[in-house]
Amino acid sequence: MEAEGTDLEGPLMTTTALPWDARARDLADRLTKDGVLRDPAWRTALEATPRHVFVPSFYRREPGCWVAVAGTEDWLDTVYSDSAVVTAIARMPNGEQVPISSASEPSLMVRMLETLDIRDGHRVLEVGTGTGYNTALLSRRLGGDHVYSIDIGADLVESARERLATLGHHPTLTVGHGAQGVVGQALFDRILVTCAVPAIPWAWADQLKINGLVLADLEAGSGAGSLVLLRRYPDRLEGRFLPDWASFVPMRDADTAPEPPPRPSRVDEGAICWTDIDPTLPEERVPYFLAHTLIPPVLAMGERDEWITFTARDGSWVEVRREPEADGQRMVCQGGPVRVWDRFLRTHRLWAALGRPGWDRFGLTVTADGYHRVWLDDPDGDFRWTLPPH
Ligand SMILES: C[S@@+](CC[C@H](N)C(=O)[O-])C[C@H]1O[C@@H](n2cnc3c(N)ncnc32)[C@H](O)[C@@H]1O
Repeated sequence: MEAEGTDLEGPLMTTTALPWDARARDLADRLTKDGVLRDPAWRTALEATPRHVFVPSFYRREPGCWVAVAGTEDWLDTVYSDSAVVTAIARMPNGEQVPISSASEPSLMVRMLETLDIRDGHRVLEVGTGTGYNTALLSRRLGGDHVYSIDIGADLVESARERLATLGHHPTLTVGHGAQGVVGQALFDRILVTCAVPAIPWAWADQLKINGLVLADLEAGSGAGSLVLLRRYPDRLEGRFLPDWASFVPMRDADTAPEPPPRPSRVDEGAICWTDIDPTLPEERVPYFLAHTLIPPVLAMGERDEWITFTARDGSWVEVRREPEADGQRMVCQGGPVRVWDRFLRTHRLWAALGRPGWDRFGLTVTADGYHRVWLDDPDGDFRWTLPPH
């Protein structure tokens, strides 16, 4: 699919001849100072990879539209800052534009690369080629013959291939559905996934060596999940969530713009209650994720006027007032087949009674039958939840 918009020509245009080295070094310095970048091998890769080659333009949200930014000082500053930028947008059937690809924050990429404990000689599969920047870091570190990357966007892969080739990198790039992995290759040591998946496909386990690692953003519903690092055992994938929450663009099933999210329902049609919970707080993502063991998946978490809105696949919905009243309580309205807020509260009460544990106390076991079991502290411990089959 051809993405919307054009790459703008500008005075600084995207050549490797730009004075980018010092900027790449500054970025590496900053990530080192922040304690994110620790491995000298990744530092070398970061310093040697011109990010502007992979982000010749990006899109900035302006009221009512996305505007392309390219070839300016502002563009170059942003490209060499620790920023995520939208790099491809598409038009949904309802006419609205939606981001379909982005270059993630370099700190997030580095965090993922270091967490995966990638070593010389490893064969790595990346799901979500996007701009190709991360593929370039991997190729620089391991050599292109050890790097495989797949994206559902044919144009994205073609652009990435050209950019990588200008730097002398020739990894194996594939256009396809990353949930199937890349078939017909020897087993991988590591799989790094840079789009959000509603479930971990067993195909990834089939393509991983025993003791190999996969790092992916598991989101059981919109915004309901985070990064989980899983080890391949003979009969399962198992591991823990990373301490810090992160979220990627959702995996698409086709090289088209995703369907528009369902519209939130009308507040005045629902049942009303009050809460002191602020669902926008990052820590609340944990019980929101766990609640997906009890609720139909939330397809869209968004905002409308002064409401935070949640719309589930079966049409159930919740709207929570963004601002509390003077007594700290927020109005909640809910409607549809399932009382999603009531079920969320059940999970929330248990989570609060457990001392509000963060992501790093939770783990996940995935088996070939598709079961996803979430556990607290220990796979065989007292607190386990099963996500409904996807
Ligand atoms: C956050 S971007 C990738 C960032 C990229 N790794 C980089 O370094 O710039 C997520 C990518 O996942 C891709 N994607 C979405 N659904 C996919 C699927 N089913 N299979 C493979 N890639 C997919 C998107 O097209 C998008 O390019």
